Amino acid sequence: MAFTLPPLPFDKGALAPHLSAETLEFHYGKHHQTYVNNLNKLTEGKPEAKMSLEEIILAAPAGGLFNNAAQVWNHSFFWNSLKAGGGGEPAGELAAAVKRDFGSFAKLREEFANAAATLFGSGWVWLVLDGGKLKVIQTSNADLPMKHKQAALLALDVWEHAYYVDYRNARAKYVDAVLDNLLNWDFAAANYAKAIKSP
Ligand SMILES: [Fe+2]
Repeated sequence: MAFTLPPLPFDKGALAPHLSAETLEFHYGKHHQTYVNNLNKLTEGKPEAKMSLEEIILAAPAGGLFNNAAQVWNHSFFWNSLKAGGGGEPAGELAAAVKRDFGSFAKLREEFANAAATLFGSGWVWLVLDGGKLKVIQTSNADLPMKHKQAALLALDVWEHAYYVDYRNARAKYVDAVLDNLLNWDFAAANYAKAIKSP
């Protein structure tokens, strides 16, 4: 198979009690795996089977191929946006950029939580670098920053499947739990360092 499910960067139970092992079993083991399976079916015997995920995402028009390729990428990026003992605030260069572009970390947190609360339907909230400036953006369904010439720094999945097992309909509780306990600011800082170096 051309595309495979990348290993999780942590054990399935590592994010409990904020995200349970059961959530990871379904979200990673079923949903993410299904996007990989669909992508393999859609690309079998076609030139896309030899393309990278990023090449497919950038080239594909709206539709099943784009949706499944983007959701494979989005979920891999999302898992890396989380870690046990995360949350808190960024340090170093990224902290300075947060102060420059949001005024304070508290303002960024508020904007991020508000974007997650107000996203209608299924989608994602991202911290991105866009033209040298940090922004919080929402995308619908499988849409993602690279399709808009933005560099992703952190992702939050706000599809219902991300929180329904642990939080039922209480999306805001899921968002608070992730922001305060799981967000991986080291991953964001590494993405920021890469993004400011690229043209
Ligand atoms: Fe998801």
